[in-house]
Amino acid sequence: MSDSDIHVAALCGSLRAESHTRAALEVVLDAAAGAGATTELLDLREYELPIFDADRDREDAGDAERLAERVRAADTIILGSPMYHGSYASPLKTALDYCGFDEFADTTVGLLAVSGGAFPVTALEHMRSVCRALNAWVIPHEAAVPNASAALDDDEFVDPSLEKRVRTLGLRAVQYARIEPDPDSFESDQNVGAQGK
Ligand SMILES: Cc1cc2nc3c(=O)[nH]c(=O)nc-3n(C[C@H](O)[C@H](O)[C@H](O)COP(=O)(O)O)c2cc1C
Repeated sequence: MSDSDIHVAALCGSLRAESHTRAALEVVLDAAAGAGATTELLDLREYELPIFDADRDREDAGDAERLAERVRAADTIILGSPMYHGSYASPLKTALDYCGFDEFADTTVGLLAVSGGAFPVTALEHMRSVCRALNAWVIPHEAAVPNASAALDDDEFVDPSLEKRVRTLGLRAVQYARIEPDPDSFESDQNVGAQGK
């Protein structure tokens, strides 16, 4: 498979019109495109996703099936979220709960988190935990954008070294799109909800 056959999709956990997370994800995707991949931003504002109800089939839950289909089409998925209350944001959680092993198992995932204050370490950790439960393969390099309103000016990174870290995530998304999967995690063995999604 050449790099031009690799498709990288980014899920944005912020619905805000002027989202810094979305702007940072566009930089990740730009770097991935520069490395030869096709790219796609999955903007959750464009999907009607009711709050997850395990009693409801995905086919009956608004645009959930359409979103899952776009996630399945990706070789690498970038999860991007603002830090909300020390974790990642609920629109992304809803989107992830509509997905399962079919979308994430043995798939490469990159993580990006954005915060208004200090480094969004816990948001990254919590997204990483979800990926372990879904048997995804998470890129070791992760991108954190603290103090977001000062870090970006008109959707451009002020600090070139931070931009380089964010761009590196896009490069790794292509480089590791076809990595040999690891054995299943212990957490995934307990994840009955991810079966048959
Ligand atoms: C409900 C809510 C909770 C937040 N919690 C935190 C937090 O725990 N730590 C932090 O540094 N910033 C927090 N913020 C600030 C956001 O992380 C920051 O504004 C970020 O840029 C939002 O991402 P966006 O620009 O992509 O929408 C919070 C914002 C909101 C709306």
